[in-house]
Amino acid sequence: MVRKAIIPAAGYGTRSLPITKAVPKEMFPIGLKPAIHYIVEEAVQSGIEQLLIIISNSKHAILDYFDHSMELETFLKNKNKHHLLQHLELPKIDIFFMKQYYAKGLGDAIRLGKQFVGNEPFGVLLPDDFVISDGTPALQQLIDIYQDTHSSVLGLKKVEEDQLQNYGVIRGDAHTDLIQIEGIVEKPKENPPSDLAVIGRYIFTPQIFQHLEQLMEGVDGELQLTDAIKGLIEYESVYGKIISGDRYDIGKLEEYIELIKIMGEKS
Ligand code: UTP
Repeated sequence: MVRKAIIPAAGYGTRSLPITKAVPKEMFPIGLKPAIHYIVEEAVQSGIEQLLIIISNSKHAILDYFDHSMELETFLKNKNKHHLLQHLELPKIDIFFMKQYYAKGLGDAIRLGKQFVGNEPFGVLLPDDFVISDGTPALQQLIDIYQDTHSSVLGLKKVEEDQLQNYGVIRGDAHTDLIQIEGIVEKPKENPPSDLAVIGRYIFTPQIFQHLEQLMEGVDGELQLTDAIKGLIEYESVYGKIISGDRYDIGKLEEYIELIKIMGEKS
């Protein structure tokens, strides 16, 4: 059973400045809900029971959004606007919050979840990666593989060669649906090991924390999750699965605009 998941949301969102000075990327609207609402829903639909969201000082909007507003509820009731109360409903899941005081990197953010996770497998959902799946939610697709293999599983996507330098790129046997990961390189400047990039959905065994705790500064001077995965591969099997569905990076303006258009057409 994968019951727990972490959503790291403490990054500065520098690609989306200036709006991210005041509005966290995770709170960008898709229709009338913020992006992170859909990510939490994906976790719920994938059977996750407890979520840890990693935030930073400038992300109080996320805390406020997932809080109950007694004041607003009372206001709506007093004004006889009971029909609007449904819009205040939150995904039914326990959410915990923790602060990352300085954005030292994704590896550092996930490391903070050690106590929360304990000795269980857990999921990670990057809230700026939005997947419109054709049925099975993206995280559930990885959980299905975990249930067969009891191993860590990375969400993958085939990416154009000139874009691979922006991703963690894996080396592995890419001929089957289930790919055994043999190596991984963060943002390869040349000779990418394949055209398969890691996207923001993962299942990890708790052994990943041993490698997260030993991290040193990697690419871009950050504590990179990719480096911890590299360590994990030395000790146990790690698999990859090409996520079925369309993936949008909210940090890229053109993909965000495309996403709100598509979600608008769907609703
Ligand atoms: P990104 O690198 O895509 O997001 O990290 P970013 O750093 O916020 O944005 P840019 O690249 O500067 O535009 C992937 C996810 O990991 C989180 C981010 O919030 C994002 O959801 N993250 C990243 C952390 O929580 N802590 C970090 O130190 C770094």
